[in-house]
Amino acid sequence: MRTYDAVFHHVLRHVDPELAHQVSFRGLQSLYAVPGLGRALGARVAPPDPSLALEVFGRRVSSPLGLAAGFDKNAKGIDALAALGFGSVEIGTVTGQPQPGNPAPRLFRLPLDRAIVNRMGFNNDGSAVVAERLRRRAAARPSDVLLGVNIGKTKVVSNDAAIEDYLLSAGHLAPYADYLVVNVSSPNTPGLRDLQAVSSLRPLLGAVGPAADAAAGREVPLLVKIAPDLADADVVAVAELVTELGLAGVVATNTTISREGLRTAPEKVAAFGLGGLSGPVLARRSIEVLRLLRAQLPADAVVISVGGVSTADDVARRLDLGATLVQAYTGFVYGGPLWVRQVNAELARRARSARV
Ligand SMILES: Cc1cc2nc3c(=O)[nH]c(=O)nc-3n(C[C@H](O)[C@H](O)[C@H](O)COP(=O)(O)O)c2cc1C
Repeated sequence: MRTYDAVFHHVLRHVDPELAHQVSFRGLQSLYAVPGLGRALGARVAPPDPSLALEVFGRRVSSPLGLAAGFDKNAKGIDALAALGFGSVEIGTVTGQPQPGNPAPRLFRLPLDRAIVNRMGFNNDGSAVVAERLRRRAAARPSDVLLGVNIGKTKVVSNDAAIEDYLLSAGHLAPYADYLVVNVSSPNTPGLRDLQAVSSLRPLLGAVGPAADAAAGREVPLLVKIAPDLADADVVAVAELVTELGLAGVVATNTTISREGLRTAPEKVAAFGLGGLSGPVLARRSIEVLRLLRAQLPADAVVISVGGVSTADDVARRLDLGATLVQAYTGFVYGGPLWVRQVNAELARRARSARV
């Protein structure tokens, strides 16, 4: 058994999942904050092989593998996470106003499926506080990690007033974003996913794009993050809208409300209650959505593929199918901190043997 698997099996499995997340994330941040150690760790543990570097949004990105939204909701550990080997980190979801999220327990592990069910409900510090954190970070030092900023709607704000709430976040956060993601696909904010309908999405994206550009004083690549539960026709409709509005691309997919394909006992799954399911069980639909988007979008549109990625094989397959970047969340939780380096190393090994 690998070290992290053993730690997971004997320790983490028995700890409340949200607490385990907080403790390990804070530990990583503290380690990174020790003067000199952060950089040393970054240099020793993780720099991805130079052969993995690619250019996205006009920037060099050190690896196609990035961290999906939800892990660093408040932008507290971007550089510590990048030091593990991620080429990009997507912070958030950040909402216009701060909010506590849903009552705990709200995060559940399904070890048999290496899956997670969550109904966190966008617990976050709000766009003004997160923007101030990003301002301080940007002033402190240059960074080579591609920074995505994912924004969503504050729960108490009605869908009718959603645009104003997204504009508040875009105004605060766009200046620090290498790319901005409008999240309309979390199952944990009532009514949010209704905003995926083109009739709601057109005015929303049409307003956020220019506001983000104006706040940042440059063109900020704008993407929309969609659910795997959309019907194929709705995925195509979103792709058509992205094309019509000339947006940068799509992040696909978020978690699913489906509970199909699991090995965990149905009673146990049902006992967790509502929430979004993530992990390998999501891979099939995530790949289908990737194919649909690639077939529909212009060649220069960016597709960030996410959902069920847990091996270098998974990353390579998504890239072969036309993903620009690939993200993971659940695979990282189960794989542990050294997982990123392992995946990067395996990708580099393949790139080398493909060249010979
Ligand atoms: C605990 C948890 C919290 C999440 N929070 C967010 C979030 O705030 N915003 C978002 O866009 N996606 C969020 N996600 C979804 C992930 O970004 C990703 O789209 C999804 O989990 C599928 O990828 P995976 O199978 O690699 O986990 C969250 C996922 C998990 C497991």
